[in-house]
Amino acid sequence: MEDKSWSPDSWKRCTALQQPEWPDIDKLEIVNKELSTFPPLVFAGEVRSLTEQLSEVAQGKSFLLQGGDCAETFADFTANQIRDKLKIILQMAAILTYGAGLSVVKVGRIAGQFAKPRSKETEYINGKEIYSYRGDAVNRLSTDESSRIPNPKRMLRAYHQSAATLNLLRAFTQGGFADLHKVHLWNQEFIKRSPQGKKYESIAMAIDSAMKFMQACGINLDNTKLLRRTDFFTSHEALLLGYEEALTRQDSISNNWYDCSAHMLWVGDRTRDVNGAHIEFLGGIHNPIGIKLGPTTKIDDLMVILDKLNPENIWGRISLITRMGAEKIDKFLPKLIQSVKENGHRVGWICDPMHGNTFTTTSGRKTRAFDAILKELDSFFSIHDTESTIPGGVHFELTGDNVTECVGGAQEINVDQLENKYETACDPRLNNEQSLELAFYISDLLKQRNRE
Ligand code: PEP
Ligand code: CO
Repeated sequence: MEDKSWSPDSWKRCTALQQPEWPDIDKLEIVNKELSTFPPLVFAGEVRSLTEQLSEVAQGKSFLLQGGDCAETFADFTANQIRDKLKIILQMAAILTYGAGLSVVKVGRIAGQFAKPRSKETEYINGKEIYSYRGDAVNRLSTDESSRIPNPKRMLRAYHQSAATLNLLRAFTQGGFADLHKVHLWNQEFIKRSPQGKKYESIAMAIDSAMKFMQACGINLDNTKLLRRTDFFTSHEALLLGYEEALTRQDSISNNWYDCSAHMLWVGDRTRDVNGAHIEFLGGIHNPIGIKLGPTTKIDDLMVILDKLNPENIWGRISLITRMGAEKIDKFLPKLIQSVKENGHRVGWICDPMHGNTFTTTSGRKTRAFDAILKELDSFFSIHDTESTIPGGVHFELTGDNVTECVGGAQEINVDQLENKYETACDPRLNNEQSLELAFYISDLLKQRNRE
């Protein structure tokens, strides 16, 4: 039953955690009003299609690959950067599809991932207390006091950058760049001769041969749309509720409400309060919803959240994105799975092996160890095996560049090398080679699962 008391602004009746301290509420309202007149970024039909695809994920017929920046920025906004993020996700998807024989649902943390929750409202820089950076939609990363003052106008820029990013992604994925005949082109020059790049090349060659074989059998691949185009969806954390409300529109076909800022929205580990504004807001929109779950998750609360967000128990509506950390997953995940099962909730299980494995080096850099990421993935797969549930997908922070933000991997990046190319505005991301290495690793985990 639809909750008749829901409206796009009913979240205002609840406590909204992690909202910036906007200095001028009138200015905020002017911006939100303007945003509410802008065209939607995505369309309800696409969102429904993603829900259907996530239903397949939850039931083990497809695998979800969700990834991108921790925080997109206004500075990193070039065609090449967008193309390279798409390339790495297409490469990872090719590795998984070829290796595990599963179709891959591709969802970027892109075209809208501009707002961040923070553990502290302020931080001290050179003895001075300034607001924490909350993402480019809110304030600037620079460490002077005035840069950190929240400015609602930045949400307008975030909207326009999202629109242009999505436009290019649509052109790339529908216009021939994602064509399976181009698998070799996705491998970037700087990585071609690395072990992971070479391993990828051998898969690309095998895909070529498979296509030549089909062609030789008389199958016309030139007009096979599925090989020439791919679906690529967008997602971000639904954090700034004014922004999300302004982009929430009623679909004229179904009369349902959709948050048209992205195909999929997730609620963060810090804002999933059962009585909070974020859950209230997400309860009324019809997009697929991700729920980030860390070690502090209260199981009883989660059961109420699932009833609130998915009263009709629709497959594909909910993806539970667990981010426990390699050392804690064994303690927390099994109980969570058992309760979800006992209560009959239909969910997709997704592993985010990044956010529970962050630590700060002695020189003050936030990083993650590649081995901890692998360990959390191993545990995720083996726990789901024990519980007879489905490891449906993965959620990563990654980039197509050769950054040095996470330690380890085949390149053996060490703590001292982090300074070489540490560029993230927020959390440390896997670089190109680490991302490929991880895709091969997951492909092996999936193959093992298929054999059993
Ligand atoms: C994130 O995805 O960048 C994030 C802040 O995650 P979480 O809510 O899981 O901490
Ligand atoms: Co992050």
